[in-house]
Amino acid sequence: MEKQLVLLSLVALSFCNFAFADEQALQDFCVADPNGPVRVNGLACKNPMLVQANDFLFRGLNMPGNTSNPIGSKVTLVNVAMLPGLNTLGIAMARIDYAPWGLNPPHLHPRATEIFTLIEGSVLVGFVTSNPENRLISKILQKGDVFVFPKGLIHFQQNLGHGHAMAISGLSNQNPGIVTVANAVFKSNPDISSEVLTKAFQVDKHIIDQLQSKF
Ligand SMILES: *[C@@H]1O[C@H](CO)[C@@H](O)[C@H](O)[C@H]1NC(C)=O
Repeated sequence: MEKQLVLLSLVALSFCNFAFADEQALQDFCVADPNGPVRVNGLACKNPMLVQANDFLFRGLNMPGNTSNPIGSKVTLVNVAMLPGLNTLGIAMARIDYAPWGLNPPHLHPRATEIFTLIEGSVLVGFVTSNPENRLISKILQKGDVFVFPKGLIHFQQNLGHGHAMAISGLSNQNPGIVTVANAVFKSNPDISSEVLTKAFQVDKHIIDQLQSKF
């Protein structure tokens, strides 16, 4: 009897996992209701009768981002926070602008694969595979080239030209998330202790202090 129960639970569990892995939508849409009191994995749905075309619209991706900053790049992200109609749909978009030699520094998206299309300029892109290989896979892209950064892997882009560069990316999550490596490690709140960082990076404390002061 006990054996049968265990078997039944296992079968039930495998069906559950299958259902979650499949991520089938159960309705046409679920426009995010940011003021909804219900907490779910994502955002609660607005009453479909109150949904408007504007819930599915974001305007302004024709505007260049302001790249006057130390790294010389600006990401304009259109995720569920900017476009409530994206809720539950598993997709988002970004425009990336680069000043001459500008860098979108090493970062990762915990929840999304990114498909990157270079619209203007010439850009060096790369991502690094997981341990133990940590292989760098990189390419110089020209206008019109499309490159993919697999979900969760550290990647970057650098403008190789004297002119402006611009790219458009699709991301496979309504809320892809961004972890910028240097900021997460050297500018966490509160700081990761210098004992941890000196040992992790095998350098003297003054180098860690210098890195922490930069961010
Ligand atoms: C761009 O950002 C810089 C630095 O924050 C600022 O001084 C400048 O006014 C901004 N330019 C525009 C057009 O918003």
